[in-house]
Amino acid sequence: MIVEDRAINASLSLKNPKPLTKENASALQIWGKVPLRGHVNISGAKNSALAIMAGTLLCGEDCRIRNLPNLVDIARMSQVLSALGVKLNRQNNTLDIDSSHIGHSKAPYELVSQLRASFFVIGPLLARLGSARVPLPGGCAIGARPVALHVRGLQAMGADVRIEHGIVHADVKGREGRLKGANIYLDYPSVGATETLMMAATLAQGETIIDNAAQEPEVVDLANFCRAMGAKIRGAGTNTITIVGVPRLHSTDYAIIPDRIEAGTFLIAGAITQSEISLSPVLPDHLTPVIAKLGEVGVRVVVEAPNRLRVIPGALKATDIKTLPYPGFPTDMQAQFMALLTLSEGNSVITETVFENRLRHVAELSRMGADIRVKGQNAIVRGVPFLSGAPVMATDLRASAALVLAGLAAEGMTIVKGLHHLDRGYEDLETKLQNLGAKLERVQLQEDSEEDDPKQTANPVLS
Ligand code: EPU
Repeated sequence: MIVEDRAINASLSLKNPKPLTKENASALQIWGKVPLRGHVNISGAKNSALAIMAGTLLCGEDCRIRNLPNLVDIARMSQVLSALGVKLNRQNNTLDIDSSHIGHSKAPYELVSQLRASFFVIGPLLARLGSARVPLPGGCAIGARPVALHVRGLQAMGADVRIEHGIVHADVKGREGRLKGANIYLDYPSVGATETLMMAATLAQGETIIDNAAQEPEVVDLANFCRAMGAKIRGAGTNTITIVGVPRLHSTDYAIIPDRIEAGTFLIAGAITQSEISLSPVLPDHLTPVIAKLGEVGVRVVVEAPNRLRVIPGALKATDIKTLPYPGFPTDMQAQFMALLTLSEGNSVITETVFENRLRHVAELSRMGADIRVKGQNAIVRGVPFLSGAPVMATDLRASAALVLAGLAAEGMTIVKGLHHLDRGYEDLETKLQNLGAKLERVQLQEDSEEDDPKQTANPVLS
């Protein structure tokens, strides 16, 4: 341990620490094996919020969104909307959005390239204005992430779509400039494509049926938001969504659902530190696959009240996991679960089927003593008796959470770098963990070398 601590100290400016502020901080320093206790509040769902913010473009009146998480991704989506001429006013977790005057239909490349979800504005822009110019978002840390399904669906609804110089140009021909209802079958139940097409269909002429639609709770949340604005949508949450277009939508006041992935991450925080903690608000049904897998591992999750869970840890045993579209096990929980399985007795197999490059955290967990082999889309995890703290680099948002979880359970000190990922999607993670008793803090790195993670520097975001 002493040798490892020296190595860590060498990479940090411990002799001459700079003032630690959120703005200049670039690593989380975690002292492991500290038990957690108490209660944690779960924030609003990032992925609902991003889609709903895009959805406000459909409405010619003010909308109020409540329970908005305070995240870098949300700030970026606000910038995208603002660049389109939308007026935004944020007070704590409430955002007022006035999309009555959209200045133009072109989303700026610099912003879309930093936040993949901002591509989703294409559907509402096209439906409302009859025209949209949105740069292709490009690939990201976890996969190529094409948008062909979004584009094909819009074409089926009568849009003329072409890609020129990296920009998707979409236009609706005809006097009225309105999309037309269509029967759309998605080759894959893509969350983003379902959301884009569902939003576009709310203002189209006639009926749209999306088959093999994504069933994620965030899709349902977006549908409920659109319905609150007067959209006619049924079937959201099943694999067939039917939308009957209306001429216009109206103002609404809407609260976002709790973030199931943040909640799942805290369930694992309890399990991996062998600590009993509670969390709320949550919608337990949204966590069914995660709670079921925790049960197989030996961790009980009790529904204490309709929106409150308690995690009761136990001896950890291996299990197998395969990520799938909802209601299957979420890819956004795969990395965190892998951290838990590194300490579970026996051999586990994790199969990632949703994204082709979402096992990059394996190398970092291995630096902490985990025994993991990767074969194609499978990771074979052999449980080890302990992890040891090490400097590690977050490779994407959920990987960063996994490394923090591993750090909480490891012997000695862990330094998690690449925090721009964490800040994109977890509201105040370290404060919430500190309030549970965890020992961790942000520190300024002495040598913040770009070589640490060149890919991240080239293309830093993406959800
Ligand atoms: N896909 C295609 N063609 C398309 C669209 C998607 O092949 O036109 C493929 C993707 O390449 C991927 C799979 O379909 O292999 C799933 O992608 P999907 O479109 O469902 O994902 P997304 O909408 O881009 C959202 C979340 C992700 C989450 C996935 C899956 C948002 C803003 N992002 O992405 O969240 O992992 O659904 O549930 O809603 C995260 O929060 O960390 C995150 C990455």
